[in-house]
Amino acid sequence: MTTIKPPVITIDGPSGSGKGTISQLLASKLGFHYLDSGALYRLVAMAAQRHGVALDNVEALAVLAAHMDVAFEMDAEGGSPKVVLETENVSDLIRSEEVGAQASRVAALPEVRNALLQRQKAFAQQPGLVADGRDMGTIIFPDAEVKIFLTASAGARAERRHKQLITKGESGNLRDLVEKVESRDKRDRTRAVAPLLPAEDAVTVDSTALNIAEALEAVLTVVAQRLKI
Ligand code: DC
Repeated sequence: MTTIKPPVITIDGPSGSGKGTISQLLASKLGFHYLDSGALYRLVAMAAQRHGVALDNVEALAVLAAHMDVAFEMDAEGGSPKVVLETENVSDLIRSEEVGAQASRVAALPEVRNALLQRQKAFAQQPGLVADGRDMGTIIFPDAEVKIFLTASAGARAERRHKQLITKGESGNLRDLVEKVESRDKRDRTRAVAPLLPAEDAVTVDSTALNIAEALEAVLTVVAQRLKI
């Protein structure tokens, strides 16, 4: 029996480009599975915290990354999947600034990245997958049928973050946020392992001047051309 390889759509890009929202909407529209690879790095950080594993204990972090008990429960409406760590719903907890900062530290460790490799590849199931991250098209799914690099100017991404903070009742200085976004971009693009770069065969979509519906439309146009759907 021959198995037909499920189609994979990779959406990479910096945070604030809208890739999480667009990837979830796209997966829901196509009825595809969805991989939020950033959540896996956040879960490693959280599991480490829960099990008292120090963030410089590379060996123990790699074991956690390979064996932690996690589940993603899809939302039929195209919203964020429920993220479960050892039977606890941690969907909101993993989004904190603290877990984000720890995730960025564990994500810089090649041993952790390697330990998550097979876990991420296992998401490629019929009828297809939308994979969201930084290295989906370059490292995890280099043979993906469709590769998108979703980006937006640092100013636009900082402004989106500013709006999010205000919605959450928190404050944030826009100028500080632009600086933070720019310095994080530089770190992500120049890091030694899996730097944030478009794959050679990726199509870049710039969402600076687009709202969510328009960005989704632009991505769907590329997907339709490549997948012939
Ligand atoms: O997208 P996010 O903010 O949830 O990602 C959390 C951290 O993990 C962030 O520091 C970037 C990193 N990451 C990564 O290195 N590779 C991925 N494929 C996804 C996320």
